[in-house]
Order: sequence, then structure tokens, then C-alpha cells
Amino acid sequence: MPCRIENPPPPSAAATTLPEPLAWIDGDLARLAADDLVRPRRVRTGKQSARVSLDGIEMVNFGSNDYLGYAGDVRLTKAASKAACAEGFGAGASPLVSGHSQAHEALERAVADLLAVEAALVFPSGFAANTATIAALAGADDVIFSDERNHASLIDGCRLSRARVVVYPHRDLTALDHLLDAAAAARRRLVVTDTLFSMDGTVAPLADLCELARRHAAILMVDEAHATGVFGARGSGLVEQAGCEGGVHVRVGTLSKALGAAGGFVAGHGRLVEWLRHRARAWIFSTAHPPAVAAAATRAIALVAAEPERRRHLLARAAEFRTDLAARNVATGDAAAQIVPVVTGTATAAVALAGRLAARGYFVPAIRPPSVPAGGSLARVSLSWLHSEADLAGLADALAG
Ligand SMILES: Cc1ncc(COP(=O)(O)O)c(C=O)c1O
Repeated sequence: MPCRIENPPPPSAAATTLPEPLAWIDGDLARLAADDLVRPRRVRTGKQSARVSLDGIEMVNFGSNDYLGYAGDVRLTKAASKAACAEGFGAGASPLVSGHSQAHEALERAVADLLAVEAALVFPSGFAANTATIAALAGADDVIFSDERNHASLIDGCRLSRARVVVYPHRDLTALDHLLDAAAAARRRLVVTDTLFSMDGTVAPLADLCELARRHAAILMVDEAHATGVFGARGSGLVEQAGCEGGVHVRVGTLSKALGAAGGFVAGHGRLVEWLRHRARAWIFSTAHPPAVAAAATRAIALVAAEPERRRHLLARAAEFRTDLAARNVATGDAAAQIVPVVTGTATAAVALAGRLAARGYFVPAIRPPSVPAGGSLARVSLSWLHSEADLAGLADALAG
């Protein structure tokens, strides 16, 4: 039985007036509305799957990161239930105190084995993994080089570190080379990049980045959030696929997207992880995520190993879909993966396109500033192993029509 979610009661008249110190919020919200930047939160009923019911309207779901279809997989639910029965639901403390359960220990081993590295550290979210790791690796005497399209969690980690931050043009290694040269006197230089960029589906030039980092003796940290489980023969990500394991020093990923669970991880050299255990504040000062979630993520890693056909099928379908769109003159930029953007430019046009697609039964979110720069709004199609050929053909028709 799907559970019923009642809408909250309307706020009482007394609650509708903001206290004076917060009165500015009304004006700022009105400006967001005028610029088509209001973000509605819809209530989903039921599991993530190829279909999704949002606010009671069922649509084909092109708006989740459930790339391999594991988020609603009963095998993860069973693993979580078993762990919850054995270890209770809440972790009860930070990992350093008493929150690091057997389920977390098994998950960290499974992540390290998947990535073929010495050790891994699991965080309550990928966002926390990124911010904490960057701030643990760089400080006021250092310089961080950050791709201009990096995810917000990398950007916030840079800010948190208090290092000087140099933003380089998207995937522009000539510019990065010069910028690294110009900062040769810094104590440490850290290059951070997504491997698969979450908004436009482009891929970082990993082999060249490794070479650049090696030449400048810089640390190279990559965020594989959208690549974990999807790329590479073992499914560990784009670093594996590019054969760059030796050149990337710090690998972050999430358990929350293709793996269908929740949490983030950092993986690499054993002493890197030992250092993070002493300096990564979001790991030290935050309750470990529930053991049941760790057990579900460990099960998903086993499924990634056992079911390589899911990622192969997904990437093959994604390539066909992009080719189909190109043949219909729907531009998808430089996308090279399961994330396919249809750039509209203005936020208003993105909202209009998403509305048109929704009217035809397709949920495709409108991505607008601050997720993308002003003028770079888009409708982002996220493909999943769960989609049928008919789903993709129907969406291509709707986008071209
Ligand atoms: C590139 C990237 N890194 C990190 C994160 C954060 O991961 P999580 O959702 O597990 O906190 C996201 C989430 O959307 C992301 O897109």
C-alpha cells in the first residue's frame, strides 16, 4: 500500500508575517519568483523507479540519480532491515567515539576493495566528504585550483579551507598549467575537479590532469559522485576507466546516486585516510550514518560487481539517446554520459521546457542558477538502467517536438 502523505495545513494568519529582522526574506523571495528561480518541492509517493509520482502526478522519471535502479531495490531494503535488527537504527555517536559499527567497517573495506586502494572513510553524505576532505588537505598557506563547473560541495570545501582559491575555465588545462606555475611558491597546491560534471554530463580530461599534477607536484583530488558504479570495468568510476589510479591522490564518491543508498566516501592511501580521521571535521564531529544505511550500501557495491550489464546497458542507451537527439537537432553540448543536458539559456525557457515535457508525461527538472551560471539554464535528463527504449524514444519525440 503506498503511504498517504497529507499536505501540511495552511499557516495561520499570525504565522504569515515575518518578524522584522527577517522581513527582507519577503523581498528576496519575490525577486526569485520574478526571475523564475523559485524551486518547488514536490512530494514523491512510493519508490524511485522509471515512473515517479510527484504531488500525485505520475510521470516517466528523468529526474533521479538512481542510475542503476538500486534505490528501490528490495535487496538493499533487506540488507538494511537485517542490519537495523542486529545493530539498531541510530549509530548513536560519531565514528571516533562509538558510532563506527561492524556495518561501517564492512562498508569501508568494500569501498576500498571496489576502488582497489588501501583504505576508505565513509561520511554521512558526499557533500560532507568533499567539504571535510578539502579543508583537511589545504589551509591558509595553500592554493586550490577548482574547475569553474565543480559541484557546490567542492566549492564550499574550498571556502572552508581558507586557502587561496583559483577557479580555472572548465577543463582548460592550458590555463590550469599557467595558473599552477604562477603559484609555485605556495606551500601546497591542490587541484579539485568533478570527474563527471553533474549539470552538463561532461567528463574531466583525467589522464592530462594527472600528468599536469605530476609535473607541478600538485595534489589531485577528484569527485566521482556521478561516476561511481557507472564507469570502469569494476564499476569504480572514471578514474578506473581512464587507467589513472596511479595519478589521482584523493578519490571521493557517493553511495547515494548509482549505489542507491546514502553517504559519501574518500578513498586512497592508508595514511591519507589516517590523516583524515584526525582532521576531517564532518567525520569527527558528526554522528555516523545509520548502520542499516551502511549495510545497504555494502550490498549495492556487491550488486555493482555482480551486475555489470546494468552499467553497460545504461551507457550504451545513453550514447544512442544522445545520437538520436543530435539527429533531431536537439543540442546536448559535450555530454558524454548518462546525464544529458538540453541547454535553454534563460531560466524562464528552462521552466517552460520542463513544463512542456511534464505536460507530455516526462519529469525532467529545470536546472537554473545557482546550480548553473546565469544564462546557462537547462533541462537535465538523467537516464537510468530502468528506462525502456520506449521511454527514451518518447522523450526524444517530446524534446524535438
Ligand atoms: C558532483 C557531486 N558531488 C557531491 C555531491 C553530494 O553528494 P551527496 O548527495 O551524497 O551528499 C553531489 C550531489 O548532488 C554531486 O552532484
